Amino acid sequence: MAKTIIVSNRLPIRIEKEDGQKVYKTSEGGLATGLGSIYKEGNNIWIGWPGISLDHEEEQEVEKELIDRNMRPVFLTDDDVEDFYLGFSNQTLWPAFHYFIHHMRFVDEEWESYYNANRKFADAVSKWLEPDDIIWVHDYQLMLVPEMIRKQFPNVTIGFFQHIPFPSYEVFRMIPWRKKLLNGVLGADYIGFHTYDDMRHFLSSCHRLAGYSYERNQILVKNRLVEADSLPMGIDYEKYLQSATSQLAKAKEISYRDSLGSQELILSMDRLDYSKGIPGRLQAFDKFLEKYPEYQGRVSLFLIVVPSRDQVASYKALKEKVEFLVGHVNGKYGTINYVPVHFYYRSFPLDDLSAFYRMCKIAMITPKRDGMNLVCKEYIASRENEDGVLILSEMAGASKELSDAILVNPNDQNEMVEAIKRALEMPLNEQKRRMKIMQRTVKKYTIFQWVDLFMNNLKDLKERQQSMA
Ligand code: UDP
Ligand code: G6P
Repeated sequence: MAKTIIVSNRLPIRIEKEDGQKVYKTSEGGLATGLGSIYKEGNNIWIGWPGISLDHEEEQEVEKELIDRNMRPVFLTDDDVEDFYLGFSNQTLWPAFHYFIHHMRFVDEEWESYYNANRKFADAVSKWLEPDDIIWVHDYQLMLVPEMIRKQFPNVTIGFFQHIPFPSYEVFRMIPWRKKLLNGVLGADYIGFHTYDDMRHFLSSCHRLAGYSYERNQILVKNRLVEADSLPMGIDYEKYLQSATSQLAKAKEISYRDSLGSQELILSMDRLDYSKGIPGRLQAFDKFLEKYPEYQGRVSLFLIVVPSRDQVASYKALKEKVEFLVGHVNGKYGTINYVPVHFYYRSFPLDDLSAFYRMCKIAMITPKRDGMNLVCKEYIASRENEDGVLILSEMAGASKELSDAILVNPNDQNEMVEAIKRALEMPLNEQKRRMKIMQRTVKKYTIFQWVDLFMNNLKDLKERQQSMA
């Protein structure tokens, strides 16, 4: 039976060593958590990196263990990690695509490593590919993989989904290898983005930098019809609702509340990433307590920062900045029985996340730029009583679907300060009215619909290509 081969840099699990022993952990990040419910179906497989360097014997052991769990590992060397992953992927593409142009760098060796690592993933696909299989490549780390596979298997069906923004032509054109990146992605048949703007930016770069003309969302690449589309990714709504209503999450909420006291909590939860706007959020909270001192002692920020890419200098610097700001706010407003910012620098299992989603009346998700942002959708799904307020950045892809959140410009501190006040003072009926609408949206367009839609559109396009031939 034909299968779907998911290919992404990171597998949905990552391996860590604890006391010399391998430990399998769940990967963080929207791609891994989002598709985590999907790949286990039938004989589908997920090809990706398990997140650790191992010796040859251990690699073979891991390969065996993962095969039974529908996963096929691609092992990266320490040099690959340095140059392909931490280098080109996360210090050229990531900052460029999130409009952090002062963080991006252009290093030839890192580009070569990116090319070679993409080749490793493409080779792994060739190894497991069988007739009629569908290949679904994910995200910016693997933009060259579709073309590499296409060259080897001209008629194969390939989809590509970009989980982060696609920047305006003006930014994308700064990258020296821009044309190669575009041609790499155009090896796919169907190319998905979270938002309409990302799709338009991609098409405009294809036209202006690689000379392709396009009509509506279609491009002819060597007589092959390629289609770009916008499909916002959803979540497994029932999973988050069930988890949030489980006895375990409720018990955890009660025990955390016992220790925390009764103040209102504002949830902030992201990977440690400069694109997430964590310092700006802390500064806004500081200003809020200063401008509205009557709230001192009555409201705390519940700040969860998940470690991420911590060998990259800009991420290390960000960690220091966040720690400084947490110390600053706590030193300024804290009392014997009031902690203004509860700060956790680690990741948590789902039961804890669900307890946090339950106990925070407000979620403040204010990235400077984000492809989608699933945390805000998980928060919405977890609000069993239909209350709570979401403060959401206009710069998150999710804001296009969630217009009943309090939308803010994350660069406008005054607007964020007023948003916090408005959220704290929002009448219950108003909270419920907004939350119900957002729940309807998130419930209607789940990760399962997203996958079905992507797959159906891809198959449909393949049929149209064949009828054109
Ligand atoms: N997450 C997690 N453990 C944590 C905190 C967050 O697994 O301790 C998950 C969270 O539930 C969400 C994902 O990490 O599914 C973050 O995805 P999002 O799209 O919000 O941001 P990304 O990290 O992909 O930029
Ligand atoms: C975002 C990206 C993913 C990435 C994740 C975690 O969600 O879109 O491709 O896997 O962040 O980042 P990491 O570098 O740890 O894989």
